[in-house]
Amino acid sequence: MKICVIDDDQAICRSLQLQLQARDHEVATGLCGGDALRLAADAELVFLDLQLPDISGLRVLEQLLASEDAPAVVMITGRQDMEATITAIQKGASDYIRKPLSMEAVLGVIEKVQARSRRARVKVRALKHQDTGPREIVGRDRQLIGVLKQVARISQSRVGVLIQGESGTGKELVARAIHEASSPGKPFVAVNCASLAPGVWESELFGHEKGAFTGASRQRAGRFEVAEDGTVFLDEIGDMPAPMQAMLLRALQEREFERVGGHEAICLRARVIAATHRDLDQAVDSGDFRADLFHRLKVETVRIPPLRERKGDIPLLVDHLLHRISHALGRRIEGVAERVLLRLQGYEWPGNVRELENVLMRSVSRCDGAVLLDVVLDKPGDEKPSLISLSECERRHIRHILEHVDWNVTRAARILEISPTTVRKKIADYGLKGS
Ligand SMILES: Nc1ncnc2c1ncn2[C@@H]1O[C@H](COP(=O)(O)OP(=O)(O)OP(=O)(O)O)[C@@H](O)[C@H]1O
Ligand SMILES: [Mg+2]
Repeated sequence: MKICVIDDDQAICRSLQLQLQARDHEVATGLCGGDALRLAADAELVFLDLQLPDISGLRVLEQLLASEDAPAVVMITGRQDMEATITAIQKGASDYIRKPLSMEAVLGVIEKVQARSRRARVKVRALKHQDTGPREIVGRDRQLIGVLKQVARISQSRVGVLIQGESGTGKELVARAIHEASSPGKPFVAVNCASLAPGVWESELFGHEKGAFTGASRQRAGRFEVAEDGTVFLDEIGDMPAPMQAMLLRALQEREFERVGGHEAICLRARVIAATHRDLDQAVDSGDFRADLFHRLKVETVRIPPLRERKGDIPLLVDHLLHRISHALGRRIEGVAERVLLRLQGYEWPGNVRELENVLMRSVSRCDGAVLLDVVLDKPGDEKPSLISLSECERRHIRHILEHVDWNVTRAARILEISPTTVRKKIADYGLKGS
């Protein structure tokens, strides 16, 4: 297997290289992020240190994964790096190993990666992009329901869509929902326009012919071709460099493109959904984004409201995300304590639903009971006290727990650590009912 080891500790590089070469692997090593981007291009597996001297390991990870035949990336992490490790896994790292490295752990992950790529090879290439399947969009807020209605309407057609929203509001989730409804079973190909490396983006998007440039040893299809008649999701389109904007505009106008170094016109059949957290109107005004491209992309515009404008959805989102996180971490978390919910509702959520997910993920990994009793917020200064009475707080908490256990009084009593009789009395006193 072609393996690349990137760590600023030369001793780690050298010792892994020797031990892996002894097991017939081909091993290249590098000491910084710059080396990683250069060396990892044709590796199948990259061991990547989180802490590098030049670029952060997370940033390198993003860039490595942005390429079409991205290698599997296993993070090398220190004891202090738990949060960055979680982020790396969310961003698509295959696994992680802790320092000090044990050869047993290293060989274990290599075996896993090999098994996975054997399985992956059996699948059709395009299927790779339909990784997670449909995910539910949760929310009852009026603005969000508006978004859902719009999604349903847009899904009836195949026009271009521009999704705008702050980071973490659910832009990709909405893009996938539109895709699933309008092109079920077809490829969904996501491209992060902000992390395509300069010099390769043209070939990434449109593919290349054999011999088109040094290193182009075979013909390769680009993202638009791989997407067939499915969807190309152009994420972070606001960060697209000017030359890329020009090429994209041409492809969209003519509904066809050529591979780099090729002459054959390939029909652009995919639907294009673009997303950005930037204010594109303003970027157009300031000349950073082409007005003609902007108008072509936004036949329909979906604006996802920030979480602070729909705080009423927080309890629902907490339930939903906790369920997902418990499942992913193999834990059983039944709910959160009411005071925790109140803190979550009092917070401003600059990172929106993604931040909520991260906060919950971190808190679950630190909590050992079935109910989350505390959370650590990213910017505690952003909290506002939720001004309600003690009995209102109790009423909400009991209701929340009851909903969690499908109104099973015995289970609720156990979580609340009061008797079932008391639970029944509180239900009557507060006039609680299932919906
Ligand atoms: N309404 C929602 N219901 C359920 N999950 C949601 C909702 N909104 C966002 N999420 C979840 O929050 C996370 C962030 O969403 P997503 O990646 O779609 O946001 P984004 O706007 O693309 O963020 P970024 O700017 O960070 O790329 C995902 O795990 C997503 O599933
Ligand atoms: Mg996104």
